[in-house]
Amino acid sequence: MKAVIPAAGLGTRFLPATKAQPKEMLPVYNKPTIQYVVEEAVNSGIDDILIITGKGKRTIEDHFDRSFELEYSLNKKDKKEYLKEIQDITYMADIYYVRQKTQKGLGDAISCAEKHIGDESFAVLLGDTITYSDVPCTKQLLDVYEKYHGSTIAIERLPEYKIERYGIVDGVTVEDNIYKVNNLVEKPKLEEAPSNLGITGRYILTPDIFDKLNSIQPGVGGELQLTDAINEQENVYATTFEGSIYDIGNTKEWLKSSIDMALTHDDVHDELINFLKQKINEN
Ligand code: UTP
Repeated sequence: MKAVIPAAGLGTRFLPATKAQPKEMLPVYNKPTIQYVVEEAVNSGIDDILIITGKGKRTIEDHFDRSFELEYSLNKKDKKEYLKEIQDITYMADIYYVRQKTQKGLGDAISCAEKHIGDESFAVLLGDTITYSDVPCTKQLLDVYEKYHGSTIAIERLPEYKIERYGIVDGVTVEDNIYKVNNLVEKPKLEEAPSNLGITGRYILTPDIFDKLNSIQPGVGGELQLTDAINEQENVYATTFEGSIYDIGNTKEWLKSSIDMALTHDDVHDELINFLKQKINEN
């Protein structure tokens, strides 16, 4: 299976940080966001990855390319652990790129993948969303897809205050934590939301999605919405994701994800906890 990582969005919620750099390259602790996303695909068994890029996103390509000068310099200074780390980034997957010409929404970004994907199901991992879990989120989705053979969406139970910012699932339970989707509602008002089950940014899509994307009209915000195209599909499932998920396009979530990730590093854990305790006391 191939994966598609849309990373062409403007990142307006994170301005001014995203004025001249892609939000997908914002670091979470010591790695750019999109590296975690590529690693999730690779750890789920996928090594053919298409990144949808756009204007001003060239640093993404540079990050996954070789850097001879840096390798030479690290080698000379005998910094072998860094050398291995940056070389591993280059070889972890076959990464391809296609540019989205205008930022007309996530649905439009996915339709840019049609030629590369062809007539197979594929995974979609949003380039600005990081997941932390024992079993990678995309692998969890693949397990459900292999059982039900329809498009499959990762969802999470949302607190009320988040519901109006997400695509929400209207569905029926088919087994523990798995739903057959009747309808997806993009960013509903809280009182109109059919559930608290929100779409998180990880999907397995069957290839008929491309025909559906070609036939839909722009939706919420004048953008071509992926959820509108999925709503046209027959056989769609959703499954709750076991783990943590962060949309780093949102500054607060980016900060939380950075803390969460930093706490997994033994050399910073205690110092960071002490710092946070001190701040709690001061506030
Ligand atoms: P978002 O809707 O969060 O991205 O899309 P955005 O448009 O950059 O966000 P704001 O509202 O302006 O802050 C989720 C993912 O889809 C990609 C984004 O790069 C992000 O990884 N995307 C979005 C595209 O590739 N193309 C688009 O036209 C829109």
